[in-house]
Amino acid sequence: MKALVLAGGSGTRLRPFSHSLPKQLIPIANKPVLEHVLGNIRDLGITDIGVIVGDRAGDIVNAIGDGTRFGAWVTYISQPEPLGLAHCVRLARDFLADDDFVMYLGDNMLPDGVADIAREFMATRPAAQVVVHKVSDPESYGVAELAPDGAVERLVEKPKEPSSDLALIGVYFFTPAVHTAVAAIEPSDRGELEITDAIQWLVESGHDVRAREYTGYWKDTGRVDDVLECNRRLLDGLRPAVLGQVDDASVLTGQVVVEAGARVIRSRIEGPAIIGAGSLVEDSHVGRYTSIARDCELRQASIRSSIVLESATITMLHDVCDSLIGRSASVGSPDGGAGHRLIVGDHTRVEVAA
Ligand code: G1P
Repeated sequence: MKALVLAGGSGTRLRPFSHSLPKQLIPIANKPVLEHVLGNIRDLGITDIGVIVGDRAGDIVNAIGDGTRFGAWVTYISQPEPLGLAHCVRLARDFLADDDFVMYLGDNMLPDGVADIAREFMATRPAAQVVVHKVSDPESYGVAELAPDGAVERLVEKPKEPSSDLALIGVYFFTPAVHTAVAAIEPSDRGELEITDAIQWLVESGHDVRAREYTGYWKDTGRVDDVLECNRRLLDGLRPAVLGQVDDASVLTGQVVVEAGARVIRSRIEGPAIIGAGSLVEDSHVGRYTSIARDCELRQASIRSSIVLESATITMLHDVCDSLIGRSASVGSPDGGAGHRLIVGDHTRVEVAA
């Protein structure tokens, strides 16, 4: 069995971050979403992984490499234009050969894993097995209508009036029967070859298509608020470890990770929280549910429920909350100047309490 991970796409809902960083590399609990995804696939015992990459291929290859770090072998497959999920399956035809495979969207987090669902697919081998999850806004997703025995009767992509609250959540198991389906379908109204249409084609052609409900935690990390919520969720499972330096004047409470080479000086860290490798936290307060990436600097700052990406600095600024701060960004008033001086990039959002 192989895996096909989709890591193309433009990530418009994650601007401004996606201008410079593929959305699949946004860190959750200090690890890119894509690393979480590859870890989940590895947990299924799959080591032969194809990764579809778009115009941000270089960043993805830099972050993931040949996969040996994850105990896997990664083959990169280029998608010159984002023409849909079924288009990715077409592009991966040679890589997939005649093997069964799991297709996994590289920005979907299923931290509770899909091992049971994978085992069932391997044992029963329906033409396709989709993973569904109850959601309150099914109109935003592909939606499955099921028979009482779990057979899929109909799949609809983003229906205006959904007749079910079971969304497709970015993990699909296929036998090679899907290749005939992706070759047969036409682009949808949004101009994409939809995997939902390919699976619907299998249903209509009389193939066995099954759905299994995933009842664990799931997040499509497509928007900033989803990224922050998912970060909080993963930090709840954090195992404390202090590998860096914490001086006697600092206090750590709860589950705190201080990575190697990080320094905490005259500060208070309230877990769950992570201070990344090589970062400095001085005269500051890091509150619950905060992930600070590597090589950041916080001086006279307080922050909670936030993610700070690598090499960012926060200086003389208090009450930062629910924030996502980009790589090498500088926030605060390092020179102690009066007034609010804002040098803000395209599609950036700054919310300041009066
Ligand atoms: C895609 C699929 C959709 C699925 C969703 C899960 O939507 O087309 O069926 O429910 O991923 O995240 P997209 O993110 O391309 O809008």
